Amino acid sequence: MKEPLVAPSILSTDFAHLGRTLATVNESKADWLHVDVMDGVFVPNISFGTPVLKAIQQHTKKPVELHLMIVQPERYLEIFARFNISQVTVHAEACTHLHSVVQQIKRLGCKAGVALNPHTPLGCLEYVIQDLDMVCLMSVNPGFGGQKFIPQTLDKISRLRELINRKGAAALIEVDGGINQTNVTEVVSAGADAVVAGSSVFDSSDPRQAIAALKGEQS
Ligand code: DX5
Ligand code: ZN
Repeated sequence: MKEPLVAPSILSTDFAHLGRTLATVNESKADWLHVDVMDGVFVPNISFGTPVLKAIQQHTKKPVELHLMIVQPERYLEIFARFNISQVTVHAEACTHLHSVVQQIKRLGCKAGVALNPHTPLGCLEYVIQDLDMVCLMSVNPGFGGQKFIPQTLDKISRLRELINRKGAAALIEVDGGINQTNVTEVVSAGADAVVAGSSVFDSSDPRQAIAALKGEQS
């Protein structure tokens, strides 16, 4: 297996010990931190907002990817970008003017990612893919950690790889939801560059080791 980039999602960590979690991730082989912001409208769950982003900024040594599961994310980009965010990932379904939002993210000095819900066709990326640093394919319905990987995602990953090649684009493919040591190999073989993992990392007794294992390292 090609070694994937691994982005632990802190959604399923114990927030009473966020500092400890971030210290563990700092010492791990994680490539960046995946931070899930939910508004209770775009998804049926509310996670956290700026006070937690501030705490993360103060304690993480990893780049931060903000996965915005919120409607009209353009209203908050400027505020969120102040927290030393490396990449902002917005949902195509949440943006009427996706191209414009992508340019706005870049003007703020962040990399731009677009996430697609499991049912959303890849066609909506056809005329924006060349502007993206990453496409995040949701392999669960967004809103909650600990769900089961949707197998149709494998075909979607391969087709996205074809689209990226056909357009000569440089976007990375990230897959988010239900990733664990059992399915990571087929996800990477299908063409993913990066995987997000929440519960399989933080429900483990050794999150550092779980991150290394997702990269293919034997314990
Ligand atoms: C789900 C979030 C994911 C989630 C992944 O809506 O976008 O990032 O935290 O958690 P697991 O790995 O448990 O599916
Ligand atoms: Zn996410």
